[in-house]
Amino acid sequence: MARQAVRPGDHVRGRGAGHGHGSRAALVTSSVPGSRVAIVTGAARGIGAAVARRLAADGLAIGLLDLDSAACEPVVQDIRAAGGRAIAVGADVVDEDVVEAAVARVTDELGAPTVLVNNAGIIRDHLLFRMSVADWDSVMEVHLRGAFLMSRAVQGHMVTAGFGRIVNLSSGSALGNRGQANYSAAKAGLQGFTKTLALELGRFGVTANAVAPGFIETEMTAETAERVGLSFEDFTARAAEDIPVGRTGHPDDIAHCVSFFVSPEAGFVSGQVLYAAGGPRG
Ligand SMILES: NC(=O)c1ccc[n+]([C@@H]2O[C@H](COP(=O)([O-])OP(=O)(O)OC[C@H]3O[C@@H](n4cnc5c(N)ncnc54)[C@H](O)[C@@H]3O)[C@@H](O)[C@H]2O)c1
Repeated sequence: MARQAVRPGDHVRGRGAGHGHGSRAALVTSSVPGSRVAIVTGAARGIGAAVARRLAADGLAIGLLDLDSAACEPVVQDIRAAGGRAIAVGADVVDEDVVEAAVARVTDELGAPTVLVNNAGIIRDHLLFRMSVADWDSVMEVHLRGAFLMSRAVQGHMVTAGFGRIVNLSSGSALGNRGQANYSAAKAGLQGFTKTLALELGRFGVTANAVAPGFIETEMTAETAERVGLSFEDFTARAAEDIPVGRTGHPDDIAHCVSFFVSPEAGFVSGQVLYAAGGPRG
C-alpha cells in the first residue's frame, strides 16, 4: 500500500536524496498527518456515499455531512463494520454558522480535517424562460456558496498541517447543457474556484482539483429521468448510446478519481479538472 510508505513527518522538498530516483517518499512534497481525516459533503447517498466508503477503505477517518445526519447512518455503520472511523453530521452547507460548527465537531471527534470533498449538490432544471430566481439562487448557493464556506472553514487545518486535499465536484454540464443554465454556470464556476484555491494554497502543501462527471446513475439522474418523462431504465439506455465506452457511470467510477486526487502521492497535481464521462467530452 503506497499510503503506508508515507510516515507522519515525511517531508521531502526540492532536490534532496531520492528525488527523481523512484523513492516513494520523494513523491510527497509536504508533511502528511499521521491520522488523516476527510470531510465529504452530501455523503448520505449517490456519489458522496461512494466517495466516503472509498476514502474510508483508503484508511481515512470520515466526517459525512448531509442535510439529515440520520440519512448518513447506514454508510457510517458500514464503514465502522469494516474497521474504519466515521461520524455523521447534519449540516446545510449554505449556512455559515452551521458549516463552522460542523467542521469543529469533526475536528473534536475525529481530528483536524486535511481532506475536503465538496460534493453536496442539487438540480433545479428548467429552460431559461421558465427558470425562477429561486431556481437560480438555490443552485448557486448549494454548489458555490457551499463549496466556498466549507473550503474556508477547513483550510486553516490544512495550512497548519502543511498538507491538504480539496476536491470539488464539477460536471460535464459545465460545458453547457439544455435546461441547466443555473447548474452549468455553478459547475463552471466551481472550476474557476478550484484553480484559484490551487494558486492560493499550493505553497502550504494543499492541492485543489475538480472531478467533472458525465452521466452517473444516482437519485439526481433519476430525478432528471422523471422530469423528461422517461423510465430510469430507458433514460440510462439512451444516455449510454452517446457514451464512447457504451455505458453510464456509477458512483464508484467517481470515487476512484477522488481517491487519486486525495492520495498523498498526487501532490504535484493541482488546479486540474478531470472529466470522468466515459469519453473525451464532458
Ligand atoms: N449524478 C450525476 O450524473 C452527476 C454528474 C455530474 C456531477 N454530479 C455532481 O456530483 C455531486 C453528487 O451528485 P449525486 O448524483 O450523488 O446527487 P444526489 O442527489 O444523489 O446526492 C446529493 C446529496 O447532497 C445532499 N445535499 C443537497 N443539498 C445539500 C446542502 N445544502 N447541504 C448538505 N447536503 C446537501 C443531498 O441531501 C444528497 O444526499 C453533485 O454535486 C452533483 O452536481 C452528479
